Amino acid sequence: MSFLETILGSIKLENPVIIASGVLATTGEGMKLLYEKGAGAVVTKTTTLNSKPGNPNPTIVSTPSGLLNSMGLPNPGIEEMSREVAVACREGVPVIGSVAGFSVNEFVEVAKRFEEAGVIGVELNISCPHEKVGLIGQDCKLTYQVVKAVKNSVKIPVIVKLTPNVTDIAEIALEAEKAGADALTAINTVKGMAIDVNTGYPILGAKIGGLSGPAIKPIAVRCIYEIYESGVKVPIIGVGGISNWRDALEFLMAGSSAIQIGTAFMKGYQIIEKIKKGLTGYMKKNKLQTLTQIIGIAHKRC
Ligand SMILES: Cc1cc2nc3c(=O)[nH]c(=O)nc-3n(C[C@H](O)[C@H](O)[C@H](O)COP(=O)(O)O)c2cc1C
Repeated sequence: MSFLETILGSIKLENPVIIASGVLATTGEGMKLLYEKGAGAVVTKTTTLNSKPGNPNPTIVSTPSGLLNSMGLPNPGIEEMSREVAVACREGVPVIGSVAGFSVNEFVEVAKRFEEAGVIGVELNISCPHEKVGLIGQDCKLTYQVVKAVKNSVKIPVIVKLTPNVTDIAEIALEAEKAGADALTAINTVKGMAIDVNTGYPILGAKIGGLSGPAIKPIAVRCIYEIYESGVKVPIIGVGGISNWRDALEFLMAGSSAIQIGTAFMKGYQIIEKIKKGLTGYMKKNKLQTLTQIIGIAHKRC
């Protein structure tokens, strides 16, 4: 096993740095570029069966330590997205298709179409805080239904993206695992809001949105720690506020087998190589051979 290689069930990645859904991977050429810039894998923008225009503007507000967004899952629909994905997959880019739907059947249909297009796995977005799909990930029964139905319909690995906007994230994680999830991604954005004090109006077109970036990092680390501690056996992909290699290391120590980067791309693509270089340097300095020697070590220290 090479230095930064990581295993997510049956998925093997050259390195643990994955592009989070929604921020960059919208076209085949874009996905190829992200892979060329060093990403271990790329998650697409969340895709629904039919195209979706998204929420009214403004959809993004900058805060002192992150972004508040309520994009409303704008996407061209699976027909067009699967054409883009196929372009990247043909070139060997490890693409994960992010799936959402307004019914269990829609989740199944979109996942099947992504599979046909050649993705290495699907990530079920049951956690978007400003869309109805977010309600699925707050409910054990609905989580089970959606995950089970998709699992029964595709052969590729099914990854389930969890929301922090629940009382007990471990409970939902265990339910997703019971339904057959091959891996879990945590976390999606944290519900938030901003008001323009000059006018008294909520700033976002959809009023309430999801917070990402450095502000949510401690929440994400806690969520991963709790999921790992609950005894979940499937791998966890950590996401939320990672801006440098030390943040990435913290997520691995909490129990993540890979990490995703979203908001930090505002500072440029170089973050991918910087994280890989930092992790490699840390491993060499501490005479570590594989990432498995780091994953979850915080649990042994307590
Ligand atoms: C502008 C924007 C759009 C996003 N769109 C999606 C999306 O389509 N699907 C999804 O699962 N997550 C989406 N997310 C959430 C990210 O994938 C990620 O879970 C979250 O931003 C936390 O990571 P970060 O702090 O590194 O950005 C979006 C985030 C941002 C900032």
